[in-house]
Amino acid sequence: MMEKRKPWAEPYKIKVVEPVKMTTREYREKAIEEAGYNTFLLRSEDVYIDLLTDSGTNAMSDYQWAGMMLGDEAYAGSKNYYYLEDNVRKYYGYKYLVPTHQGRGAEHMLSQTVIKKGQFVAGNMYFTTTRLHQELAGGKFVDVIIDEAHDPDAIHPFKGNVDLDKFEKLIKEKGAENIAYITVGAPVNMAGGQPVSMENMKQVHALAKKHNIMVVLDATRNMENAYFIQQREKGYENKTVAEIHKEFCSYSDAATMSGKKDLLVNIGGFVACNDYDLFQKLRNMVVVYEGLHTYGGLAGRDMEAMARGMEEALQEENISFRVKQVKYFSDLLEEENIPIVKPAGGHAIFLNARKFYDHIPQDEFPAQKLAADLYVDSGVRGMERGIVSAGRNPETGDHNRPKLELVRLTFPRRVYTQAHLDVAAYSVIELYKKRHQAKGLRMVYEPPYLRFFQARFEVIK
Ligand code: F0G
Repeated sequence: MMEKRKPWAEPYKIKVVEPVKMTTREYREKAIEEAGYNTFLLRSEDVYIDLLTDSGTNAMSDYQWAGMMLGDEAYAGSKNYYYLEDNVRKYYGYKYLVPTHQGRGAEHMLSQTVIKKGQFVAGNMYFTTTRLHQELAGGKFVDVIIDEAHDPDAIHPFKGNVDLDKFEKLIKEKGAENIAYITVGAPVNMAGGQPVSMENMKQVHALAKKHNIMVVLDATRNMENAYFIQQREKGYENKTVAEIHKEFCSYSDAATMSGKKDLLVNIGGFVACNDYDLFQKLRNMVVVYEGLHTYGGLAGRDMEAMARGMEEALQEENISFRVKQVKYFSDLLEEENIPIVKPAGGHAIFLNARKFYDHIPQDEFPAQKLAADLYVDSGVRGMERGIVSAGRNPETGDHNRPKLELVRLTFPRRVYTQAHLDVAAYSVIELYKKRHQAKGLRMVYEPPYLRFFQARFEVIK
């Protein structure tokens, strides 16, 4: 018997509600078939509990909505931009800010500005859009994450850490001048939301500086990372998440950021840096691709909401609730021995589809099918993070075959209650009982870029 746990509740109350539609199993079977067994192609209206992503799906507070009314929609020099700039300096510590419409806008500009054709880019596991922009800029991505990150069952408090030996070997083999930069994502989305320790980040920075290599932080969910450091790393237990977060950023030269996660908004992002020349280049590029450098594709009100979100997200009760809610869900699954990536990440739980559907070979897309089956079972929407997301090797044209074949169930911030989590967990557990009945998929349409968003499948009969 489980020990009776102390009750907890959300650190907010509900002021506005959005009704959700309840559907039948028959309805959902038809919907997923029409969507080509790709949860990205479902209509949101047909989804009951949407755990597709935590990106842009957050609920804003009354403080943020009030800020939306203060949008200064001037083409140039919006006051919301200056407020955002102040807050980026205050909470992240970078000197210069260029806003973008979302994270990939920042990745695009940074990659095009810094990478020279043929250079290598190191990173602690790939992220889909980040790697694609590096490749489109002529770079070649090299994974330098620790081996544990590729093993769903390996327990490590900082499973997102950079393997310093791998990074050093790359520098020796290719020469520092052939490495454009190292991207540190913290936590590592594709590894299951696994954090990077402060010590590791310091060492990465020291090694990179020794060789004059730039360190780029993917700061998308760095506040969650800071919370993990506070909970798990010696010496940080008495520091605030805000202090830890800022210190972590100080070991990087620049950051790309998708505000749609940590910053509790529905749209927005930025690239920030400390080097004036780089800033000048980015600021010039933003006017070509995003908009003037004081709005970067965003409305003034969106910049205001993002600046205010920064203040709220770093409050201890908010960030700790955020991560604990995910842990609660993971505990429900672990009690039933559902195969998931361990330990629980900061933003999501990842079902290990390789084990869940161990009778379906990777080339028949077990994770893709599991996400589709979960939707049919209960209207809960997750996403594939396996062979489909990994795309193809640009040189050989073959599938990349990642060790991790996962379904991600991601938690939007401040949107769902404990009861929603109970319902979603129940469905996963029921599905696990019937797992042997599942059949694999065949891909019938494959787009050339980021195929997971739009690929279509059929069930192999
Ligand atoms: N970096 C990380 C670690 C991300 O998770 C994302 C987006 C991006 C960069 C790109 O940002 O979407 O604003 O352009 N992740 C979303 C997700 C899409 O569902 O995990 P974006």
